[in-house]
Amino acid sequence: MSLEPFDLTLLPRSTSVDAQGRCLLGGIALDELAHRFGTPLYVYDEAELRGRCREYLAAFPGGVAYASKAFLCSAMARLVAEEGLDLDVATGGELHLALHAGVAPERIVFHGNNKSVAELEAALRSGVGRIVADSFAELDRIEELVRGGYAAPAVLVRVTPGIEAHTHEYLETAVDDSKFGFGLGHGAALAAVERIVGSPALRFAGLHCHIGSQVFRSDSFDRALDKMVGLVAEVRAETGAEVEELNMGGGLGVRYLHDDDPPTIAEHGAAVHAALAKAVAAHGLPAAPRLTTEPGRSIAAPAGITLYRVGTIKEIPGVRTYVAVDGGMSDNLRPVTYGARYEAFVPSRVLAPRAATMTIAGKHCEQGDLLLRDAQLPADLALGEVLAMPVTGAYGHSMASNYNRVTRPAVVFVHEGSARVVVRRETEDDLLAREEE
Ligand code: LLP
Repeated sequence: MSLEPFDLTLLPRSTSVDAQGRCLLGGIALDELAHRFGTPLYVYDEAELRGRCREYLAAFPGGVAYASKAFLCSAMARLVAEEGLDLDVATGGELHLALHAGVAPERIVFHGNNKSVAELEAALRSGVGRIVADSFAELDRIEELVRGGYAAPAVLVRVTPGIEAHTHEYLETAVDDSKFGFGLGHGAALAAVERIVGSPALRFAGLHCHIGSQVFRSDSFDRALDKMVGLVAEVRAETGAEVEELNMGGGLGVRYLHDDDPPTIAEHGAAVHAALAKAVAAHGLPAAPRLTTEPGRSIAAPAGITLYRVGTIKEIPGVRTYVAVDGGMSDNLRPVTYGARYEAFVPSRVLAPRAATMTIAGKHCEQGDLLLRDAQLPADLALGEVLAMPVTGAYGHSMASNYNRVTRPAVVFVHEGSARVVVRRETEDDLLAREEE
């Protein structure tokens, strides 16, 4: 039980609290946003998004691509492009949206462990800047397409360096047993580079690795860098090719909870560059490759807050109190999928003591649809009040579903006293849009 008020440092930079104790974002009370736009509602602080893009560019001058899987809509793609970042897309759908939003194709990095011929053709047709190759089958497909008339694309090799990131098992992507990339251990990564260097249909542009997501430990990045720089040296020795770009993926963890303590973007950038310099010296390279990164969560998550309205409160004496809200696993799949934890607060009285322990439940027909077990909330929480869950800006909207035919929430950007809907709320007629009869 906590009588401490909610920790405001978990909220985006434009947060303020007015004389009545109401929480404002971008100069607008969160309660008012809920009233104007309905709930559930994803609210983003534009200043926080832009600020984080800028912090990344300062920390990684070699280049930053925003990993659009974390949160993508046209407004976000444009914001990121305006801030000077490239965009990582991982499917034909993300590519389509990015191009539709007007992102310059040469600024797009195309990922995916099973890119189809159609997806690769869309990438070649639009002229994406880089393709991150994940398999020999994919290299075959690209070569075939280039023989059909497309220009040879710049290709990075996705490497699985065989290290543990120390995060959730589902979010570990660089261990040997991974569906992603070319393994380092058995020589597949070097063989992929040799294949690209020797092919007139492919231009070798560098190496890529992504160790995992929600990573707090910088030693995981250090070990990956050492392996990758070792491969850079091997590539030079074996093929004579220079590795122009070394893309170390995304993965920096964010602070979801009061007690979480991840490195800041600046600290992360400094640590990765220091590890690079050390590895370059250790492997005797004459110069370091250009270091790039592709963060998703650490740009989008802290900028987003989800607003819900309380509809039912069920007290089971001696067991638990359930607070049911009007959203759930359809707008935030992370608690159910990864056991992810968040904090919650009542935005109309953000400074109130939180004397009660209650479990925030979603509205889906599953007992497991719980957004937050044992949340600390004001004891007199009432029906109809707005509840806010912060740090929900990444992998909420992007993994949303229509489970139970629930319509997906709107997305609103707030900035300096104005709010704009960037994705409208889904309607029940939208649910019928694909029905053939
Ligand atoms: N690059 C690649 C190749 C990736 O696969 C990912 C994330 C990123 C960059 C961005 O990673 P970030 O900076 O966001 O950690 N749905 C999960 C996260 C899955 C991450 C997938 N790949 C979640 O909600 O925690």
